[in-house]
Amino acid sequence: MPEVTNVRVEIVDGIPVADHIALLREAGWFRDGEDPSAMRRLLDGSFLIAAAIDSQGRTIGMGRMISDGASDGYIQDVVVQASSRGLGLGRRIVSLLAAEGRRRGLGWIGLVAAPGTVPFYRALGFEPMPDHVPMLLKIPDGNPR
Ligand SMILES: CC(C)(COP(=O)(O)OP(=O)(O)OC[C@H]1O[C@@H](n2cnc3c(N)ncnc32)[C@H](O)[C@@H]1OP(=O)(O)O)[C@@H](O)C(=O)NCCC(=O)NCCS
Repeated sequence: MPEVTNVRVEIVDGIPVADHIALLREAGWFRDGEDPSAMRRLLDGSFLIAAAIDSQGRTIGMGRMISDGASDGYIQDVVVQASSRGLGLGRRIVSLLAAEGRRRGLGWIGLVAAPGTVPFYRALGFEPMPDHVPMLLKIPDGNPR
């Protein structure tokens, strides 16, 4: 894997709204007609946000963690822009979130792996939980993200 030295991956307080929307859109997590300003609440309500920032200051990858801050953390919305995938950025984002969560005392860090991403997360130390099944409440007007 080529080493990317001109992209920094760090814990941030927020992500510029245009970069955030572009990343969500690439992953299929932003629907046309959605209120872009509402996306800020996703970040404001997160325990940790990790961003991959290129040499021009653009956020080209992200991930976030939702947590009680004491015990459990869930990693969400991990995405790297399509043209920058395969360069180790996703690995750096998830590793940073997990390390920072552990540093802050979390003992349970989980996620729901999207189809096809199990090998990606396995390589970072995550394991499927035997007999546990992710479940989702059906909410007619809910956001499918
Ligand atoms: C999943 C995703 C974040 C990976 O980001 P990335 O920057 O391309 O990943 P990396 O370059 O850090 O890859 C790390 C390792 O995982 C592997 N990998 C990456 N994506 C993979 C996938 N979908 N399936 C299997 N292996 C994968 C890489 O080959 C690499 O392996 P190596 O170290 O042996 O070379 C990126 O593909 C993405 O944004 N996908 C769309 C959104 C999405 O599905 N996010 C996950 C939600 S749970």
